[in-house]
Amino acid sequence: MNPEKKALIDQILTENKGKDGAVMVALNELQSQIGYITEPMEVYVARKLRAPISAVHGVTTFYSFFTNRPRGKHTIKFCLGTACYVGGTPQLIEKAKQLLNIDIGQTTPDGNITLEVCRCVGACSQAPVIVIDEEVEGRVRTNTFPELLATVSN
Ligand code: FES
Repeated sequence: MNPEKKALIDQILTENKGKDGAVMVALNELQSQIGYITEPMEVYVARKLRAPISAVHGVTTFYSFFTNRPRGKHTIKFCLGTACYVGGTPQLIEKAKQLLNIDIGQTTPDGNITLEVCRCVGACSQAPVIVIDEEVEGRVRTNTFPELLATVSN
């Protein structure tokens, strides 16, 4: 861990130690400010906040907001909820993989786009849904996906 990053982590942990929901709040801050939370970071957080590692790991693996690798500048998430899945998410994922030449969970070599999947985002009536950064896009089709992709491509 580089000294700057460690100082930032220590600062976040010190600010939150002893507060209600310290683990959740600190992890949110770490994800927002550093961009990812690795396993050694989870162990460090657990030790510093005197929380079980299972509690820390449980949070980072349950919420899709957390990632253990740096994300690209933009994130495209494909909803895998039932309505979206049957509505065409698998075909959209295939299209994205084909166009970007990366798999789900990977980032383009230029660091621009990360592909991820997510749970239902509550827009089932617009299935299939993708989320580009924070924007929900509904009724996406394999022939309209490239246009959406172009909005975040270099
Ligand atoms: S199933 Fe995709 S938004 Fe609900």
